[in-house]
Amino acid sequence: MRLDKFLAHHLGVSRTIVTKELKAKKVTVDGVIIKSGAYQLTPQQTVEYDGYEITPITNNRYFMLNKPQGYVCSTDDPDYPTILYFIDEPMSEKLHAAGRLDLDTTGLVLLTDDGKWSHRITSPKHHCQKVYVVTVEQPLTVDLIHTFEHGIQLHNEKSLTKPALLNIIDDYHAELTISEGRYHQVKRMFAAVNNHVVELHRKQIGTVILDIPEGEYRPLTQDEINSFS
Ligand code: URA
Repeated sequence: MRLDKFLAHHLGVSRTIVTKELKAKKVTVDGVIIKSGAYQLTPQQTVEYDGYEITPITNNRYFMLNKPQGYVCSTDDPDYPTILYFIDEPMSEKLHAAGRLDLDTTGLVLLTDDGKWSHRITSPKHHCQKVYVVTVEQPLTVDLIHTFEHGIQLHNEKSLTKPALLNIIDDYHAELTISEGRYHQVKRMFAAVNNHVVELHRKQIGTVILDIPEGEYRPLTQDEINSFS
């Protein structure tokens, strides 16, 4: 980040004032006076103004939401209310979902304004696990465990789904752990084995477990945030 931008932000002053203060030799980076606002700072460097260290504050925000049915995970939609309805935070429109749920799916949605962080959750490269509780129309059979473990050929997809862990709870309920996020993946996996998902709920992403009632949200703890590093 440019030094003048960093200073304006952290001191809460305009760039014009920052430029004057830089010219007045009041700013050091790692102990060296810097007069150019264009100087590129790295996150590891120490900036001092008038002898006081400026502690970089991270403005990024991280929340979990227990999404009810009937809300879309995009932040703007012409037809349906969005998940931002539940988020009582300043500039909530700057937040985005790190992995979306369908309109009728309930459960854990992670929200942030940190694009790099959400990329670690959604990017196929990171194999981030998501755990779903699935209710189906037809009774579940034990052979499905192997089928899902082996991978399924979804309609219009080039490759098999990655190994998924199916834990059958009873005839109509199971927990499914997947490490991808293909479009409507869970519903399509069950459709591919001639079943139909009637209810879908996400309870976990990585090691972050949903622990709040439906329609509520809370900030993530530092450990939860760091768990995706
Ligand atoms: N898979 C689906 O089919 N729907 C979701 O909402 C999430 C995963």
